[in-house]
Amino acid sequence: MTHSRDTSFQQKLLSTFGSHSSMTPVLSADRMGRRIRGVDLSQSLSREQATLLIALFDEYQVISFPGQDQNGFHVTNLERLANHFGAPIPHPKNFANYVEYHRQGVALKPLPAHQQSSSRCNAAFPDHITCAKGANSPAVYIVTNLPGSGEHCEEKFVGGLHWHTDIEFEPIPLSTSMFYVQAAPKTRSSPLNTWVPNIKRETGFYHPDSSPELMERRERLPLNGETAYADTAAAFSDLPSSEQLALEKIILRRRVRVNDEGWLIPLVYTNPRTQKKSLHSPIWASRGDNIAPVQVEGMTLAASRHFLDKLEMHILDPKYRYDHLHQPGDVTIWSNFSTVHNAPPAKSIINSPDDARLMYRISCKGSPSFDLPRGDSKAWIDEHISPPYQSTL
Ligand SMILES: [Fe+2]
Repeated sequence: MTHSRDTSFQQKLLSTFGSHSSMTPVLSADRMGRRIRGVDLSQSLSREQATLLIALFDEYQVISFPGQDQNGFHVTNLERLANHFGAPIPHPKNFANYVEYHRQGVALKPLPAHQQSSSRCNAAFPDHITCAKGANSPAVYIVTNLPGSGEHCEEKFVGGLHWHTDIEFEPIPLSTSMFYVQAAPKTRSSPLNTWVPNIKRETGFYHPDSSPELMERRERLPLNGETAYADTAAAFSDLPSSEQLALEKIILRRRVRVNDEGWLIPLVYTNPRTQKKSLHSPIWASRGDNIAPVQVEGMTLAASRHFLDKLEMHILDPKYRYDHLHQPGDVTIWSNFSTVHNAPPAKSIINSPDDARLMYRISCKGSPSFDLPRGDSKAWIDEHISPPYQSTL
């Protein structure tokens, strides 16, 4: 079954992108993640090609296109690609006054040129690394350790993040995120022969009552700059059907602050496009005391924690996990409907361009669009994209 699924997609790739295209599992044929070669994303996609890439994405949840030509591929190409998957969402950090805009309705202002993330990246190693064209789009979030870095800096390290799904709580959650990688760290000088040492966290990062076994799964992060993914759809579909039915009835209360009333969301999320179900939200319970915990409706906070920790333990089982080692020229697209991810420990200040991490992220929501430009109405943009932004690519 799995084999025939791959064979069928492989044949479609050959007929749609040509004889040089191919697809391989990143882990194994029965698990999420495919590496797709021979697809040049600097070129516009035909309707047929866009349809196939979105079908691959829906089926495999993480798809990666290695080897994009760094001279020919620009961040503008990434934004055009993103438009097929959904409406790109601008990142608040690209604006000078997003908080005032949000709270007081003042006119939104772009960041002055010298404060833009790309300008700060370009100042680190000006003879070696300059951001690719299109990096200044409001839709692009630059994931990097270049700002503040330079030849004479002292190295600094930062631990990984919590396991999470990006902004999954909005009425229309983000469906898709994607990275284009311009630079990835090359050095492996830490004691484990990895990019960074295994950084031990200060206490309080995760809830202190979680079991040592769960803490071990949460903290086992990759050490070479990989993004770690866990497959929340497979984690759900592997459960006995009686348990699935019970979980589908669970409603969670989410809060930003402890005393907020918060809002309700289902524990099991159904991808509106594929109807694939996933354990979407329990990871949010893992945060430490500084973030209001998720509560299961009808349970005490303590019982909720025990219940959600058990689910998180299941999701973070190594068999659902894929750590993507980023390489320059990779475009990697992941589903926010059926995965959780975690940013790795990293060098946050560097003194060599060999340690540079320079990746461009675009996230999007809404329906895919096989033809471009997208046809989102102004009313839909105003309601669902904040701050309002309509990509013209
Ligand atoms: Fe994230």
